[in-house]
Amino acid sequence: MSTLVHALQADITTLSVDAIVNAANSSLLGGGGVDGAIHHAAGAELLNECLQLGGCKTGDAKITKGYRLPAKFVIHTVGPVWRGGMSGEPELLASCYQRSMELATDYGVHTLAFPSISTGVYGYPIELAARVAIKTVRSQLQKFPAIQEVVFCCFSISDLTVYEQALSE
Ligand code: AR6
Repeated sequence: MSTLVHALQADITTLSVDAIVNAANSSLLGGGGVDGAIHHAAGAELLNECLQLGGCKTGDAKITKGYRLPAKFVIHTVGPVWRGGMSGEPELLASCYQRSMELATDYGVHTLAFPSISTGVYGYPIELAARVAIKTVRSQLQKFPAIQEVVFCCFSISDLTVYEQALSE
């Protein structure tokens, strides 16, 4: 069966998927952007579980329950801060997507939604980040056959346009 890979515009905290991915920071203790929205929607129990995790390295991911979210799990990953592109940013960003898919598979996730990791506060140009995201997910699908649907959840219409263009390439 082929995996559905698509983009849509939404607030990721509203999606009824098995797992949503959080663009976190290495403390895993919350922040602004999508991280703040996820912690707000999930409730204080999420922060309590995150406190037990001991942080997370850039390019790696950790999983928690979703608590008050419709999603059963939250996969917290830490994207790279954009420093011009010559500091390993593409490899670290690709690693975020790969590690998230690995964890999703370990926890029996069939439907998975990603935000546009690193393209907000961390400043990664979205045209470049979308290509890394799509290329990495597509190249890993055969390795993770239990994942049936991957959603690229865009917060704005302009981000959605970028993802749809990149998906069509
Ligand atoms: N649903 C979907 N996407 C969203 C939502 C939402 N509710 N809110 C924002 N976005 P950012 P980063 C989009 O800044 O660049 C945090 O403080 C947003 O428009 O959330 O990886 C963390 O704690 C953008 O396209 O994450 C870290 O310190 C994308 O999510 C730092 O920001 C990512 O933007 C991480 O920076």
